[in-house]
Amino acid sequence: MTKRTARAVASPNIALIKYWGNRDHNLRWPSNGSISLTLGGLETRTTVTFDKTLPTDRLTVDGLPPPNSALLRVSEHLDRIRRIAGIHTPAHVESQNNFPAGVGVASSASAFAALTLAGTAAADLSLNPKELSRLARLGSGSACRSIFGGYVEWHAGETVADSYAEPLAPPEHWDLIDLIAVISREHKRVGSTQGHTLADTSPLQSVRVADAPRRLNICRDALLHRDFPTLASIVELDSNLMHAVMFTSTPTLIYWSPATIEVMHAVTTWRAEGLDVCYTIDAGPNVHCLCRKQHAHQVEERLGYLPGVINLLRAHPGGPASVI
Ligand code: DP6
Repeated sequence: MTKRTARAVASPNIALIKYWGNRDHNLRWPSNGSISLTLGGLETRTTVTFDKTLPTDRLTVDGLPPPNSALLRVSEHLDRIRRIAGIHTPAHVESQNNFPAGVGVASSASAFAALTLAGTAAADLSLNPKELSRLARLGSGSACRSIFGGYVEWHAGETVADSYAEPLAPPEHWDLIDLIAVISREHKRVGSTQGHTLADTSPLQSVRVADAPRRLNICRDALLHRDFPTLASIVELDSNLMHAVMFTSTPTLIYWSPATIEVMHAVTTWRAEGLDVCYTIDAGPNVHCLCRKQHAHQVEERLGYLPGVINLLRAHPGGPASVI
């Protein structure tokens, strides 16, 4: 056969306890464990076709050829799949997002989760979820969490082989809503891969990492008991700690815009007024506002009035990545 093709879909995820910094950058072996929510309603659909007639790998994202660095990163991931399958065939990869890329909605997570599933299926490999999560991690750390649906924990691992994600609770466990306040559509200047390499230059990173098991325990328990006030305070603390490390890295990393801080202030005020909502921010200016479903409508309306918010995306607990 000259062509073998498979298609997969995956959702991004929002980290409630963040991954920032690695013990080994090449292997994406993280400095600390993390917990996330898979974002249903947002998705990346990827088709991988191994084609013997192609001279080299090809990639389109949302119908366009992306920068060479993206093709290189995808080719390296295909090489990992080809090595396991014992093949050398070039591939055509077509990836479509239904949300804007590069604005702090982790598109690399859904991209590498979908690529891992479609690539291994097209190469006729059958890997179990743990193996898929470990493989996706090598493409993009946060992608190892997007293999699973609902609430997910990525174990840092005693050894690099123990570093993979596992489901903590299914999507129907708790119907939290993530309202993503889009502040900017501009591509970020420093991507997370580069950001991770700066984490250890901050004198705060060792403190952040040493305290991570405590935050993971609080977050896991709050999720399992559906305890919103506890979840809100640990999620905001963890996000603030990561951004404190970013601010104090050399060179300094500042992902926030003035409007980011406006939304953070608004969210804490609304919570004091009785709305169950909290904020968390990844490596970009956008603010993820996590809320209880019964308060989502009111939060959505209020976010709509804030001048710096140019768009709102809405996500709910989503399912696992799957071959379609
Ligand atoms: C701030 O997974 O995007 O979103 O492994 O280099 O692809 P790479 O990094 P990435 O880092 C995510 C950083 C974060 C926090 C998180 O998602 O845990």
